[in-house]
Amino acid sequence: MADKLNIAIYPGSFDPLTNGHLDIISRASKLFDEVIVGISQSSSSKNYLFSDDERLKLAKKCTKKLINVKPIVFDGLLVDYAVKNNVNVIIRGLRAFSDFESEFQMALMNRKLNTDITTIFLMPHEKYTHISSSIVKEVFSLKGDISDYVSDEVLEALNQKYEKK
Ligand code: COA
Repeated sequence: MADKLNIAIYPGSFDPLTNGHLDIISRASKLFDEVIVGISQSSSSKNYLFSDDERLKLAKKCTKKLINVKPIVFDGLLVDYAVKNNVNVIIRGLRAFSDFESEFQMALMNRKLNTDITTIFLMPHEKYTHISSSIVKEVFSLKGDISDYVSDEVLEALNQKYEKK
């Protein structure tokens, strides 16, 4: 019998995907057979700039060179998606100590919900530890340069979004 594949999911809102996220995805793609980028579906409590479909298309464009990376949109409990899709690892990024508390809480809750799924933390490159999707959007909306922090595809999508506003 073939060995079990190690499939990891990297969940998040990715509104939009930044180079910091890409850094984590690329590190994970070297460690696992398959990496699913799990884009959380919009809900009434979260107000995203980009629709589910837009975030998915951007994630697909940005990861097209990474052949074992598959972006998808998921809803409901992350661990439920994981079980249905044979995922055994959840990847989360740790940018700074301040991420730790909420990540710790989420990892323990996910472990309580399903003991077979392990959360693994990866650190992005230092040059991305101070960014988030919101800060990138804010700087862009005020005409600041964010070209170090997002791909050309995301920059283009932000241009289109803010032109329409
Ligand atoms: N580079 C740049 N930014 C990063 C980053 C990195 N490496 N890692 C995290 N961030 C930023 C994100 O851009 C985001 O910024 P924003 O708040 O300005 O948009 C912020 O950090 C939060 O990160 P994210 O990874 O998107 O977390 P989230 O809190 O939005 O997502 C889910 C959390 C979707 C993973 C979680 O809510 C979930 O699993 N939901 C499904 C339902 C469920 O199972 N709930 C129970 C969980 S215990």
